[in-house]
Amino acid sequence: MHDLIGLIGALTARLGPAGVLIDPADTEAYCEDWRRLYHGRTPAVLRPANTDEVASAVRLCAEHGAAIVPQGGNTSMVGGAAVSEDGSQIILSLSRLNRVREIDPLDMTMVIEAGVPLKAAQEAAADAGCLLPLSISSEGSAQIGGVLATNAGGNNTVRYGNARDLVLGVEVVLPDGQVWNGLRRLHKDNTGYCLRQLFVGSEGTLGIITAAVLKLYPRPRETAVALCAVSSPDAALELFNRFQQNDAAAIQAYEFMSGLGIELVLQHIPGCTLPFAKLAPQYVLVELATPRAGADLHSAMETVLAAALEDALVSDAVIAESGAQIAALWRLREEHSEAQRRAGASVKNDVSVPVSKVPELIWRATMACEHLLPGIRCVPFGHLGDGNIHFNVVQPEGADGAAFLARDHEIMDAVNDIVRDLDGSFSAEHGVGRLKPYMMPEWRGGVELDLMRRIKSALDPHGLLNPGKLLP
Ligand code: MLT
Ligand code: ZN
Repeated sequence: MHDLIGLIGALTARLGPAGVLIDPADTEAYCEDWRRLYHGRTPAVLRPANTDEVASAVRLCAEHGAAIVPQGGNTSMVGGAAVSEDGSQIILSLSRLNRVREIDPLDMTMVIEAGVPLKAAQEAAADAGCLLPLSISSEGSAQIGGVLATNAGGNNTVRYGNARDLVLGVEVVLPDGQVWNGLRRLHKDNTGYCLRQLFVGSEGTLGIITAAVLKLYPRPRETAVALCAVSSPDAALELFNRFQQNDAAAIQAYEFMSGLGIELVLQHIPGCTLPFAKLAPQYVLVELATPRAGADLHSAMETVLAAALEDALVSDAVIAESGAQIAALWRLREEHSEAQRRAGASVKNDVSVPVSKVPELIWRATMACEHLLPGIRCVPFGHLGDGNIHFNVVQPEGADGAAFLARDHEIMDAVNDIVRDLDGSFSAEHGVGRLKPYMMPEWRGGVELDLMRRIKSALDPHGLLNPGKLLP
C-alpha cells in the first residue's frame, strides 16, 4: 500500500470522522474474531453510512492498493472477517447500513441493508406479519451482509434451505468501487448468469454486499417444540424418520445434541436447566410449525412421541407448553457454542454428510478423535435434519489449550477423512474463511478451484478484497 496517511486523509474527508476509526482503543474489538483464534492489526476501521460511501471508500482503497476486509457482526467461526497480523489491511464495517428499506407482505419480500442484525431483520418481518426463516445461534450479532456473504445455514435449513435460497436480489459494491444494483424481486428472471448467487457465499472475496431482497414466508400460526432424550444417534435418526413419515412439511427444525454438550451448557451458562431428572446420552430438539389454521401440531407431536416412547426409541420427552418454555428449550441448543468456548479450547468441524449417514459419522469420528487424543471431549451437535453436524471437540480437562489447538489440523484431518468417505463436505455452513483454505485443493481442486480462481481474478484482479480467505 502506498501513502497510508494520504489514504486515511481522503477517507476521512469522504466519510467524516465518525466513518474512520484509527485509535487502537477503537479498532481493537474489530481485530479479534469471536473464537479468539486470530489477533490482527489494522490501520483503520471504516464505517460508511450508506452504499455510496461504501463505494467511495472501496474506490479510494483500490486507488491506493489497500486491501479491505469486509466485516459484519464478526461472528465467523472460521476467521472469515479476521484481519491480518501485519497491519496492512483496512476493515470495512457495514454496521451503519442498518435500515430495513421496505417490506412487502403481498410480494413477501424484504429489502434490507447489510448491517441489520439477523434478529432485527426477523423481528421486522414478524411485525409485518411475515416470517424470515433464517435462524442461527449468533443471530443477535450476525448481520445480513455477513450471513449472505457466507451463505449461512442454521436451524431451519431442513425446511427453507440456506441463506442462498432466500435471496432474490443483491446490491453489491465491486472491488473497483462500482455499484451493481441487482435488487430485483422476481421469482423468475432468466436473463443470463445468476450473478447474485456468485456473491452469496463468496465470503467477501468478490464484492461487498450492501443490501439484498430476501424472500419471506407466511408466519406459523402454530408451533410445537419438544426435547427428547434418546440413547443413540441412530435412535435420533429413526425419530427424524418418524416425524417425516407423519408430516414432513411441518418439520421446522430437527437438532441433535450430545449428553456432554448439554452438560457443558448446564455447567457454564447460568439459568439453563434440563427438564429431565437424569442425563441421557443424546438429545433431539424438534420444532414443528405450520401457517395452517387448526392443524393441532401439539397432538401430532404427542402422537409421534408416544409411539416412540413405547418403542423405546425415546427414553424421555417434554413438549413445551408456553412461549417461555419454547425459549428455554431452544436456549439449551443455542448456548452450545458459548458453553464450549467457556469450557476451553475447541476445534470445530462444521461438516455435512447425507442425512442417513449422520450416525455413522458421529460414531466413527468419535472413535477417531478419542484414538488420536485420549481425554478429548467430543461434542457433536447441530442440524441433523439437513445432515450438518458440528463435530466439535473440546480440549481434555486440565490440558494446555494452546498445545491442543496446535493439533487442530491433525484433528480436522482425522474427521474429514471420515466425512470424505461418507460423501460429505468439510464445510457445511461456516464457510472456508481463513481457517480452511488449505483444504480447498484436496476437496475442490482441479477444474473447480481453477474456475474459482478465474472468477476471482476477473472481478478482483489485484486481490484487494478479503485476501487470504477462501482461496488457498
Ligand atoms: C451452531 O449451529 O450453533 C453453530 O453453527 C455451531 C458451532 O459452534 O460450531
Ligand atoms: Zn450451526
